[in-house]
Amino acid sequence: MLALTVLLAAITATASATNLFVSSYAGNITTLSLTEHKGLFSLEKVFFNGGCAPSPSWLTLDRGRGTLYCLDEGLPVPNGSLSSYLIRPDGSLTQVERADTLNGPVSGVLYGDASGERAIALAHYGGSALSSWHLGTNGTGSFSFNQNIIFTLPHPGPNAARQEAPHEHQAIIDPTGQFILVPDLGADLVRVYSYSSTTDQLMAHDPLSVAPGSGPRHAAFYNPYGIACQNCTTFLYVVAELANTVTAFAVTYPQAGGLAFEEVYSTSVYGNFPLPAGNAAAEIAVSPDNRFLIISNRNNTSFSLPNPDRRNSTRIPSDSLATFALNCDGSLAFRQLWPAGGSYPRHFSMNSHGDLVAVGLQQSSSVVVLARDVATGLIGNAVAEVEVEGQVTCVVWDE
Ligand SMILES: *[C@@H]1O[C@H](CO)[C@@H](O)[C@H](O)[C@H]1NC(C)=O
Ligand SMILES: *[C@@H]1O[C@H](CO)[C@@H](O)[C@H](O)[C@H]1NC(C)=O
Ligand SMILES: *[C@@H]1O[C@H](CO)[C@@H](O)[C@H](O)[C@H]1NC(C)=O
Ligand SMILES: *[C@@H]1O[C@H](CO)[C@@H](O)[C@H](O)[C@H]1NC(C)=O
Ligand SMILES: *[C@@H]1O[C@H](CO)[C@@H](O)[C@H](O)[C@H]1NC(C)=O
Ligand SMILES: *[C@@H]1O[C@H](CO)[C@@H](O)[C@H](O)[C@H]1NC(C)=O
Ligand SMILES: *[C@@H]1O[C@H](CO)[C@@H](O)[C@H](O)[C@H]1NC(C)=O
Repeated sequence: MLALTVLLAAITATASATNLFVSSYAGNITTLSLTEHKGLFSLEKVFFNGGCAPSPSWLTLDRGRGTLYCLDEGLPVPNGSLSSYLIRPDGSLTQVERADTLNGPVSGVLYGDASGERAIALAHYGGSALSSWHLGTNGTGSFSFNQNIIFTLPHPGPNAARQEAPHEHQAIIDPTGQFILVPDLGADLVRVYSYSSTTDQLMAHDPLSVAPGSGPRHAAFYNPYGIACQNCTTFLYVVAELANTVTAFAVTYPQAGGLAFEEVYSTSVYGNFPLPAGNAAAEIAVSPDNRFLIISNRNNTSFSLPNPDRRNSTRIPSDSLATFALNCDGSLAFRQLWPAGGSYPRHFSMNSHGDLVAVGLQQSSSVVVLARDVATGLIGNAVAEVEVEGQVTCVVWDE
């Protein structure tokens, strides 16, 4: 009896479960449960949550308030939408509100006072806009419209097919929580906004101009000393989808307001490998330990993987993830180009420990979880994989 009790205690101690939320163009947010027992993982679909339709494109988690926001790009309809959900203890989602927005929201970021007044800013790729929404008090999931800012281009950019209009592709917040930055793929700008602490209205500052025709898509901040302050060194890494470059800018906070940028480093998203034709870089993230930068590459299958059906010798094409070590001067040291686990890694995210990377594979219609060595920063083999109906657009860890 004693032996059995000890055995059960050991099993309980080593088994763990984490939920992930996945958006896909099939029209649902899928809750996945990742369980691990003695190093073996399993990834299961546990809930399908509707309401963020027709084209769920992005998920923003407000973990502290138990709320998930879902953006719907509204591809077949004139408007996009924003939905809020309360996260149940079992990982299912209860939709609270849904509101029409300008077309094409693809990324959102929370801002404001973490314990009080809060808002979410949305980047609209299709609608060439930035919008802002007031969020209700903790636990309610309510929200209301605040502001639309619509952009125009006097003439198309160098890549006329993709830069015929401004295309806001992401909204991120700086480490001090005071500025919202919005890469605009069409206008070759990273737009800069501060906000009113009372109304959450966004106020424009001078944007960062990036290389003409480069098509900035996403960006990430890096503080070498891990401290958020106005006088310590901060770098912004901008990944350009059309040029397939990653460029580092030293960011400073002038007395007069706004942000000042100085380019310090730029390299290929393929590191030391030749950039293949058709590559389209997508996501960028700094590892939780603040030591590595990871970028996803889509649309040219540099790798192939064994078929999951072992009797089938046809290998599965795979795009890639590039890993760079971050240096204190803002430069990057290329470390690895590694299979992403399938086709079109539009989005990926790391767990808080940094030892797992969940990759949202748009064309493979799947989520793959890859092992990651926290010490070396190198990504390893897939530990779990699950098919998700429709084109996968975003995957976030509920932790
Ligand atoms: C989406 O969820 C709804 C309701 O749970 C379900 O009826 C539908 O089959 C789901 N669709 C997909 C594509 O999973
Ligand atoms: C929000 O409410 C939950 C409980 O409903 C609480 O655990 C959490 O700390 C609150 N968060 C904030 C930021 O007030
Ligand atoms: C819906 O789209 C139309 C056309 O682009 C736009 O004029 C309108 O403001 C949008 N509605 C909302 C609530 O943003
Ligand atoms: C940086 O600013 C903080 C206040 O934000 C101040 O306490 C600190 O002394 C400053 N450090 C330097 C090196 O200027
Ligand atoms: C991928 O890149 C290689 C090397 O540049 C090129 O030969 C091939 O045509 C590209 N494939 C696609 C689908 O663009
Ligand atoms: C993918 O590659 C093809 C062939 O090189 C190219 O025509 C297409 O524009 C690329 N797609 C994106 C999103 O870059
Ligand atoms: C083998 O795998 C390929 C790629 O997934 C697939 O297209 C093909 O239908 C499979 N063949 C058989 C016999 O299952």
